[in-house]
Amino acid sequence: MPERSSLRVAIIGGSGHLGLGLARRLHGAGVEVMVGSRDAARAQAAAQSIGLPSDAGRLNVEAARWAAVIVVTVPYDAHRQILESIAPVVSDKVIVDTTVRLGRSGERATPVHGSAAEEARELLPTARIVAGFHTVSAAMLADPAQRPHGHVLLCGDDPSAKERVAEMVRLLGMRAVDTGKLGQAGILESLAGLLLAINRRYKRRDLGIEVAGLD
Ligand SMILES: NC(=O)c1ccc[n+]([C@@H]2O[C@H](COP(=O)([O-])OP(=O)(O)OC[C@H]3O[C@@H](n4cnc5c(N)ncnc54)[C@H](OP(=O)(O)O)[C@@H]3O)[C@@H](O)[C@H]2O)c1
Repeated sequence: MPERSSLRVAIIGGSGHLGLGLARRLHGAGVEVMVGSRDAARAQAAAQSIGLPSDAGRLNVEAARWAAVIVVTVPYDAHRQILESIAPVVSDKVIVDTTVRLGRSGERATPVHGSAAEEARELLPTARIVAGFHTVSAAMLADPAQRPHGHVLLCGDDPSAKERVAEMVRLLGMRAVDTGKLGQAGILESLAGLLLAINRRYKRRDLGIEVAGLD
């Protein structure tokens, strides 16, 4: 059994592809995890499906209230609505925004600002926003034959928040790369779109970013 970590991580939208994969791997790494959903029963079922007790599945807002680090894994269509729903309990917590500004059909949605993460900064002005995980494949995380691997590109304006997320990345067994300020998020979101296209072209679902020579 891995040593338990004192980090409390809530996964908002944790019943979904990326969220459930992250929850499973974080739990496996000894991190205290809460799975969030818009529906309490769905949250409980998702928690149980990865070996957590049913009370580790809660409504998104309750999971966010409990956590120190809140990972947002919802489609861009739902981004604003979900962030508004957790805003009352977020204060100055660390928010990891994984959102890629793509429509559900895989086509790009029209950008309102530079990136989904910068929209998050406007919606949650006191929170410490770190953008990341855009280029990590949910299929890789879900595959029991693969250990989590590759680089997790992070950006954000708060160095200590970024370091906290980097620690979480290292607990997952992946490597964190600080790509700079939150203004880089648009590039990371675009990179994810490129990876999606590459995965489609090569009939893969699990390709992510691996940067040679960078630890
Ligand atoms: N999939 C990947 O490999 C991957 C990789 C990197 C980044 N991302 C980004 O991570 C985010 C999540 O991707 P995903 O593939 O995990 O998405 P998903 O499985 O389609 O959805 C994740 C969760 O979001 C909630 N949700 C779905 N539609 C919603 C809506 N209209 N309104 C409110 N909540 C809704 C659902 O949870 P409840 O119904 O339980 O509330 C769902 O389980 C996206 O922004 C994506 O761009 C994905």
